Amino acid sequence: MVEPKANDLMERIVSLCKRRGLVFQSSEIYGGINGFWDYGPLGAELKRNVKDYWWRVMTRLRDDVVGLEATIIMHPKIWEASGHTTTFADPMVDCLLTKKRYRADQIDPQSGVAYHYSGAEDNAMAAGEKPKTSGEPYSFLVPDVKHIERARQAAKTFYRQRGVGDPRLLGERTEIVQNSTRYNPENGSLLTEPRLFNLMFKTYVGPVESAENVAYLRPETAQAIFAQFKTVAEVSRQKVPFGICQIGKAFRNEINPRNFTFRSREFEQMELEFFIRPDEAVEAIAGSVAQPDGAGHPGAPQANWGWQMWHKYWVEERLAFYEQIGLPRASLVEYWQKPAELAHYARATVDILYKFPFSKRDDKGELAGEELEGVAARSDFDLSQHQRFSGKGMTVFDEELKAAFAKLDDGRKTALATRYFENRRAYLIKANEPAEQAERLAREEAAALANGTYIPHVIEPSAGVDRLALALICNAYCEDEAPDEKGKLEKRVVMRFSPRIAPVKVAVFPLLKNRPELVAKALQVRDLLRPLMTVYYDDGGAIGRRYRRQDEAGTPFGVTIDFDTLGEKGEELKDTVTLRDRDTMKQTRVKISDLPALLQERIR
Ligand code: GAP
Repeated sequence: MVEPKANDLMERIVSLCKRRGLVFQSSEIYGGINGFWDYGPLGAELKRNVKDYWWRVMTRLRDDVVGLEATIIMHPKIWEASGHTTTFADPMVDCLLTKKRYRADQIDPQSGVAYHYSGAEDNAMAAGEKPKTSGEPYSFLVPDVKHIERARQAAKTFYRQRGVGDPRLLGERTEIVQNSTRYNPENGSLLTEPRLFNLMFKTYVGPVESAENVAYLRPETAQAIFAQFKTVAEVSRQKVPFGICQIGKAFRNEINPRNFTFRSREFEQMELEFFIRPDEAVEAIAGSVAQPDGAGHPGAPQANWGWQMWHKYWVEERLAFYEQIGLPRASLVEYWQKPAELAHYARATVDILYKFPFSKRDDKGELAGEELEGVAARSDFDLSQHQRFSGKGMTVFDEELKAAFAKLDDGRKTALATRYFENRRAYLIKANEPAEQAERLAREEAAALANGTYIPHVIEPSAGVDRLALALICNAYCEDEAPDEKGKLEKRVVMRFSPRIAPVKVAVFPLLKNRPELVAKALQVRDLLRPLMTVYYDDGGAIGRRYRRQDEAGTPFGVTIDFDTLGEKGEELKDTVTLRDRDTMKQTRVKISDLPALLQERIR
């Protein structure tokens, strides 16, 4: 197998996506729109399969998770409570020369010689005229002093853009610069100072564009789950621990969309909010709180699980999910965020990374990986915020806790209530409640805990559908060789999608399209399989070409109807077909009546 270089590989993958209709630019006939992507027939099937499988394992196969489908535009107070209106911002910088915009935290540090200028005067003014000047300072970074002319030319362009027709540069001086992120890595120009830019897309609800009608396209699906927590808990008759999951569009006005669909402005998320008891409640009920003991799946959930065990459980469940849809464990990285990287309310976050061809390499030359999903232990922050902002209670009543608490000895009761009080007070003070008020509320909440009432904590596995689709495409892409009609080896591009998520499961081919009895039988086979899976019927061209087309589409199975199927070479082969495996290219003879069960078993 040929191993293409990373960038080269990514180019080939992007080109295949366009050629085969997996993914292409939105609004292409108008030149596209940056950060927005459309999925063609194969891509739409792939995404649907990914979402369907996620939905199946996250809710349909579980008793303790239910689904939600909320609106994209919600009450703007939701984003105040979640903190998005104030803190969901990235630092941005602009190139002073090209005006191109970058995320400040994604600028690679540069070293070299900086040429600084204090301004410029116009050489070309007529005698007696007051020279046009600019006093705006400007700097340009070059690798060494040999490149002084580049710096001067860039500075002249900068001042010309500011109306100085024929600039004479003023105040030139040099400085050795080490690892600076103040210069544009693409051209060396000075960047503007970083400014914070809120990533939410703003719109207006109703015909009047006024401040009170402002609303936002949701930047994550999670907040709807928190806002509807009480209603869903009630109507589904679920008791903590339980989860609510949702799949849907999210929008972020990313400063610099990049790496194909990886960072887009419109994308889909698959999120679960799994609500659990606070550790103090677990301890009251189970006597102690279990701690994770090393690597591996912790097994079936237990009553003595606190947030750490639940967090570990969901990390392992999610890793298993990725393996089940064909991403090898070795292509994934389990990255535990360091304390400084954690959101202030998070107790732990594990990012599940995939080693994309465009990922950076670590010190050992290994692909470091890019985030597919974050699994965060978010404490009771989210529901607490919505309780404070909406004034509606987000607590649950836990019968088991009330009964267990009543049986504790006084020392234990005080110890647990004190711990709970301290956690709640710390949250309330961080949320800017006055100290006295925080103290009073936390005391009331600790008393409520003893009576079986609390705000649930949450574990959040949050994944991106589009990033996952891209990872599956990158992982499936393979170039090898296969024999053509004459047995000569030719290059083949094959998408080795797991049959579980492959866009098309089986292709059905009549050997020849000008033989009506072959075509009739092939159509019968197509109609037999179609209610059970995605089938593609293809009678165009030589059979080898048809196989090749399906290999590129990643179709795992091919069924050919030939003269043996018609019984022309003997009764024993009548109503049998060849079943071709995309990966091994092996063909086996199978009875038509066995096909549905056999294929269903392999694509489940
Ligand atoms: N509720 C938590 C949350 O939204 P996040 O890490 O900001 O967390 C979760 O997003 C996932 O959504 C990411 O792991 C990624 O897969 C996907 N995602 C986030 N921003 C994206 C973007 N601009 N383009 C594509 N996918 C994105």
